[in-house]
Amino acid sequence: MQVRFSHVSLAFTPGKDTLHDLNFTINDGELVCLLGPSGGGKSTTLNLISGLLVPTAGEIFFDDQDVTQMSPLDRKIGMVFQNYSLYPHLSVENNIAFPLKIAHWNKQKRLERAAELAKLVHVEDQLKKSVNELSGGQQQRVAIARALAKDPNILLLDEPLSNLDARLRMEMRDEIRRIQQETKITTIFVTHDQSEAMHISDSVMVLHNAQIQQYSKPNDLYDHPANEFVASFIGDNPLNIFDRSLLDDTGLKEDLGSSYDKAVKVGVRAENIVLTKSDETFEHGLKCKLLKSDRYGLISTRLYSFKGVELDATGLTEIHDTNEDVTIYFQKQGFFLFDEKGDNLSLEPRHD
Ligand SMILES: Nc1ncnc2c1ncn2[C@@H]1O[C@H](COP(=O)(O)OP(=O)(O)OP(=O)(O)O)[C@@H](O)[C@H]1O
Ligand SMILES: [Mg+2]
Repeated sequence: MQVRFSHVSLAFTPGKDTLHDLNFTINDGELVCLLGPSGGGKSTTLNLISGLLVPTAGEIFFDDQDVTQMSPLDRKIGMVFQNYSLYPHLSVENNIAFPLKIAHWNKQKRLERAAELAKLVHVEDQLKKSVNELSGGQQQRVAIARALAKDPNILLLDEPLSNLDARLRMEMRDEIRRIQQETKITTIFVTHDQSEAMHISDSVMVLHNAQIQQYSKPNDLYDHPANEFVASFIGDNPLNIFDRSLLDDTGLKEDLGSSYDKAVKVGVRAENIVLTKSDETFEHGLKCKLLKSDRYGLISTRLYSFKGVELDATGLTEIHDTNEDVTIYFQKQGFFLFDEKGDNLSLEPRHD
């Protein structure tokens, strides 16, 4: 089922929009992540889809049907939460079958369906256990199976993995993707973890300041961030941000063309600072001092000083002696120019 927001706003306090004029479409069968920092409006958006909240303005459509005023029950939604919310006194199979009991399915049919779903989420060997006897990952599998019991049109997951340790999170992230692809159910997944969002989604919607900052395919967020916020939020390493004016005497202006003069700040990803000039870098380099050089397993990190600004760099290269004078080069791919509003000027058509 397709989900569409048309000019949707929500204000908990009159006059102050928590979400402002959201317009987007989530296509049938897609997995979309709502990503953003705490308080960005992710859960609020999810609750508007589930019907637990009604927008202050605008309309919400499921396919062609206007569901703006439809009750949560009529929307045929499955929901999974961070804390699983399972029934502790019930067995795995009875937890999964619970929504079917409420819907008056007969016992045999609902246990058959529970067994089928348990197989889908890989807990078929745990059916008779109490949910208290399961690990966190297994409990979350049961919660997903229960959300799917009534064959919902849409599956909503609000930070479903945040109670799990790092390794289990990665495993369950891939599992959710597998289950979603097997069922082809339109799925909306909330997380504040950019790496999780990047790994699992068809598209990612970044929410911040009551607005959609960007809604794109994961790699587009990384390669072509719409603005400074997205550029800093996406990526495993820090984005270095500093005043463009620091580059005025470096020759980089010649490399960057007409956007250069409009730029107020520049951003460069740590992984795109290198020590050798190539086709992938700009012609002109920056004279820096190496302040620090470390290695953590496969990755090495370096800290440079350029006109008093510290630049983080990371890569697969060997470590160097500190206090050395070095020339660094920026790879074009991870270098961005931002205007006074923070918008990425590199996204504008170039006229050079
Ligand atoms: N019922 C409510 N009444 C008043 N304000 C609310 C209510 N629910 C959420 N808010 C406010 O709306 C904003 C968005 O909240 P929301 O829960 O959607 O954020 P979130 O992106 O899910 O954050 P988190 O990552 O912390 O879960 C916050 O400033 C929050 O304080
Ligand atoms: Mg939330």
